[in-house]
Amino acid sequence: MSDAADNAWQQICSASDINDGELKRFEAGQFAVVVARVGDEFRVIPPFCPHMAEPLHESGICRSGTLTCSKHLWQWNLLTGQEQGPAERPLMFYESDVRDGEVWARVDQELVYEFGEEDDDDFEW
Ligand code: FES
Repeated sequence: MSDAADNAWQQICSASDINDGELKRFEAGQFAVVVARVGDEFRVIPPFCPHMAEPLHESGICRSGTLTCSKHLWQWNLLTGQEQGPAERPLMFYESDVRDGEVWARVDQELVYEFGEEDDDDFEW
């Protein structure tokens, strides 16, 4: 791994900061991420719903490995990011790892969902 790649990895939180089925928002340098826990697995995701950008640490409900955004009920398999039910976009993941009880993620570049033009219909100049 090059120095540049090493610097891209950042310690986000301790594994013990998050209970099973919990989602928490953390600052990761220039931007925010949400860390989700499913059993002993952790996923680091952008902090917004892929549908209409609700803050997932507030709107997200995690049950048995399924993440549901309570705003319009889009759902995903939290371990794979795969859409379930009405969801039309997968979840994006930051590459992550647990080392010595700490959750690390590769956060060199912010992951941003592309929202459809219909989401801007109410915007007026
Ligand atoms: S904003 Fe999350 S499902 Fe619509």
